[in-house]
Amino acid sequence: MNTGELMSRLTEDVDNIWMALAFGISLFIENSIYFIFATAILLYLNWKLALISLCIMPFLAWLAMKLEKDIEKAFDKISDHTVHINTTAQEDISGIRLVKAFAREKHEILKFLNLNTVNYTLNVEKTRIWGKYYPLIEFLTNISIVLVISFGGMLVIKDEISVGTLVAFNGYLSMLVWPMRMMGWLTNVISQANTSAKKIFGIMNTKADIESAQDCLKPPEIKGDVSFKNVSFKYNNSYVLKNINLNIKAGSTVAIMGTTGSGKTSLVSLIGRYYDATEGLIEIDGKDIRDLDLGILRSSMSVIFQDTFLFSDSIANNVAFSVKNSSIQSIKDACKMACIDDFISSLENGYETEIGERGIGLSGGQKQRLSIARAMIKKSSILILDDSTSALDMETEFQLLKNLNGLKNKPTTFLIAHRISAVKNADLILYLEDGCIKEYGTHNSLLEMKGRYYQVYSDQFRDYEELEYTEELA
Ligand SMILES: Nc1ncnc2c1ncn2[C@@H]1O[C@H](COP(=O)(O)OP(=O)(O)OP(=O)(O)O)[C@@H](O)[C@H]1O
Ligand SMILES: [Mg+2]
Repeated sequence: MNTGELMSRLTEDVDNIWMALAFGISLFIENSIYFIFATAILLYLNWKLALISLCIMPFLAWLAMKLEKDIEKAFDKISDHTVHINTTAQEDISGIRLVKAFAREKHEILKFLNLNTVNYTLNVEKTRIWGKYYPLIEFLTNISIVLVISFGGMLVIKDEISVGTLVAFNGYLSMLVWPMRMMGWLTNVISQANTSAKKIFGIMNTKADIESAQDCLKPPEIKGDVSFKNVSFKYNNSYVLKNINLNIKAGSTVAIMGTTGSGKTSLVSLIGRYYDATEGLIEIDGKDIRDLDLGILRSSMSVIFQDTFLFSDSIANNVAFSVKNSSIQSIKDACKMACIDDFISSLENGYETEIGERGIGLSGGQKQRLSIARAMIKKSSILILDDSTSALDMETEFQLLKNLNGLKNKPTTFLIAHRISAVKNADLILYLEDGCIKEYGTHNSLLEMKGRYYQVYSDQFRDYEELEYTEELA
């Protein structure tokens, strides 16, 4: 299910239910009361005439039910199609920069227009169903007036009832007819709400793939020892991680390197149970993470995802996202640690500066450092940085990693990076290839091994050495 579909459920479907609850049900009750009282009074005034006017009602009810059935089907199609329109609009708006950069405005407008044409056709279809039944409903309700006036007139001539009774009868008849006329609208509102409710409950009843076990462990604190025991993992069919074994002591830093798509993000995603390992066991402080309370497990971790996301809110609120009522001092400390305090302080409104969704107005590196600050304010036992310093210059990256290393209660840190300068001081460096740990060790031991890590090292430093060499020649 994508964002557009969820938005549509939140707006349109909730509106439909609100309409039914706010107007539909109260009108239904009101009309039912009118109907019952009017019928009783009519029967009391003259039972023969009352029966004549009531004989139309079963046909009306049958028509209203048929209308409801057909309209519900049509509405179902419209509601599903609205999801496509919403998704396209949402993607075009949030991806507007991409659309403009590739000059795809016309294409996107056409795509939207095509979707709208289908929407138009579906609505015409719905109106056609309405048009098929509604005049018939109106016709039958008016027929009942004709019947009452003509039969009632005859009864007046025969002196069975007075003219006054006939006039009263006619008056009360509108109380009978009005609820029937409303029936069409009411069935429409109620059937729309019914369809919407089914869809909303469909979402609400969806079970999360990953939940806490029933008798889960709730340890008072998590130290941060992490171990992987023969862990393999696949998303669908093919394995993306194979036979991973790791033993990491609390407080140490593990750097993960590897080619793109080698499984780095997947490996760290398993620790917070964003996915469960297909085979093998992951333990934190010696306990299987599947036995730990999911809330405790995740709140003991700070994760900085590969794609940064910032809210349309002030810088302070973005940084304080994970910690309620954090003091401005703690926000500042976190920003200092993430090497972004100087920049924020130089802004006119400082920490109260508003930033747009996805941080419009900030550079890539500034966004990365803000998301690091957001993770740092939460003092957690496990810290995961997924390529979170890639947009920083080497000097800032060095300073930031030095700050992290110098923390008092240093969390167990998983640092995914591509630059040797970022990983070389880690306690353990892993080099992943095709989901397997190809090499592991410290910077020096890996260099001695003269394997893949050494190759990356030489590639990254060749440019630098060549530069020095040319300078020497000159
Ligand atoms: N949600 C997903 N569903 C299915 N396959 C996925 C999913 N996420 C990743 N993959 C696949 O798993 C493999 C490993 O992906 P992963 O994101 O772990 O790589 P990575 O090492 O983090 O790469 P990068 O350096 O580009 O971030 C890739 O082949 C990718 O196509
Ligand atoms: Mg990744």
